[in-house]
Amino acid sequence: MSSLADVVGPTHVLTDPELTASYETDWTGRFAGRAAAVVRPGSSEEVAAVMGLLHAAGRPVVPQGGNTGLVGGGVPLHGEVVLSLRRLAAIDAVDVAAGQVTAGAGATLAAVDAAGAGAGLAFGVDLAARDSATVGGMVATNAGGLRMLRYGGMRAQTAGVEAVLADGRVVSHLGGLAKDNTGYDLAGLLAGSEGTLAVVTRLRLRLVPRLEYRTTGLLAFAGPDAALEALVTLRRRLPGSLEAVELFLADGVRLVCDHLGLTPPFGRLDPVYLLVEVAGTHDPTEELAEAVVADIGDRALDGAVESEPAGRARLWRYREAHTEAINAAGVPVKLDVTLPFGELAGFLTAVCAAVDGAAPGARCVLFGHAGDGNVHVNVLGAEPGGRAAAVEDAVLRLVARLGGSISAEHGIGAAKRPWLHLNRSPAEIDTFRAIKRALDPAGILNPHVLLPENDSTGDRLG
Ligand code: MLT
Ligand code: ZN
Repeated sequence: MSSLADVVGPTHVLTDPELTASYETDWTGRFAGRAAAVVRPGSSEEVAAVMGLLHAAGRPVVPQGGNTGLVGGGVPLHGEVVLSLRRLAAIDAVDVAAGQVTAGAGATLAAVDAAGAGAGLAFGVDLAARDSATVGGMVATNAGGLRMLRYGGMRAQTAGVEAVLADGRVVSHLGGLAKDNTGYDLAGLLAGSEGTLAVVTRLRLRLVPRLEYRTTGLLAFAGPDAALEALVTLRRRLPGSLEAVELFLADGVRLVCDHLGLTPPFGRLDPVYLLVEVAGTHDPTEELAEAVVADIGDRALDGAVESEPAGRARLWRYREAHTEAINAAGVPVKLDVTLPFGELAGFLTAVCAAVDGAAPGARCVLFGHAGDGNVHVNVLGAEPGGRAAAVEDAVLRLVARLGGSISAEHGIGAAKRPWLHLNRSPAEIDTFRAIKRALDPAGILNPHVLLPENDSTGDRLG
């Protein structure tokens, strides 16, 4: 690895297990391996030179951002070299006229959002891991997050990309022009490619107006049907201001309260909760309150509305602390799926029975982005012991049968590649392989994620 050290400096080629450890295990602790080395380039030019060397040596590479991924797509499960992009964190001055900013792949979501603030702008994608997740990793997984229903996900926010190809050549298209029909959309292709096609080094990102007024509501319901009827009403009543409609259940609230020492909302556990956020250039509190009182009123068991930051944060804590509370209780099997809206209530009722059938006694915790039909199915007690695969199989087949997607926003990674065929036809998977071969003929870029190991595509359901 001495020539890598010549490129990035010896302190940025890590092989000491104490130093590489945090790059080798994912955030949940479920996916872990040993890296041949961790290489930390400090510029796009260094990434290009590193890739040139690794390509010449035929060494497989796992690109890694903030290591907040949840499907094992960013850790070296097969002894790969980890290419950490975290040092590429520079953010250019905001282009106020265009409402865009150019940022390094290693800039965190929070840093990009803060960069926009001075110009009255914000980043449209938001998620709980905002202080660690990097925009490069977020585009690689096409992250969705909390405001997807208003602004779309990372693909929608990406106006241009600079990336290093497998052989070290650089492709760069960062102009961010509103109209630009000059061939294939490489930024769109790399969004969701999970590090398999190129290494994203810089991004041209769209920004949105920073909305001054923001109100959060928490509603409790007796069951999924009432909650999802309320969701339809909120979408209809608040088309200009609705930013988030998040869902969680009594079990998740119990975990969060035990973990953080909180009292449950409204002083008791209710079966289903919706957390609603509205934002605008004027105070949307009245609008939200009216929609709730006039149109949701008797469908909800209880409700609270907060427009002060501390009160809003208190309500959000019940939702955002789910991930850490679940992790504190054990190593979860995390399944991130989308259902058609018409199937959502039925899925919420049926999925834990499917989990129990596959792993009797396992604990099933559901939460997610109801506004997008996105449910995070978290299962505790299925790992270790080989029951994880049975749980994954049962849940993902149920999702596909109902016409849903087996990956809403976390990606396929290593975790779901055996089930890709449930959502993608043999012709689609062949096309994916052809794209992969064209961009990475030697197959060194994240070779063990996304595409299935073999060609078995026999039992597609969805
Ligand atoms: C979330 O919505 O909080 C994230 O997707 C993380 C998770 O699923 O745990
Ligand atoms: Zn999520």
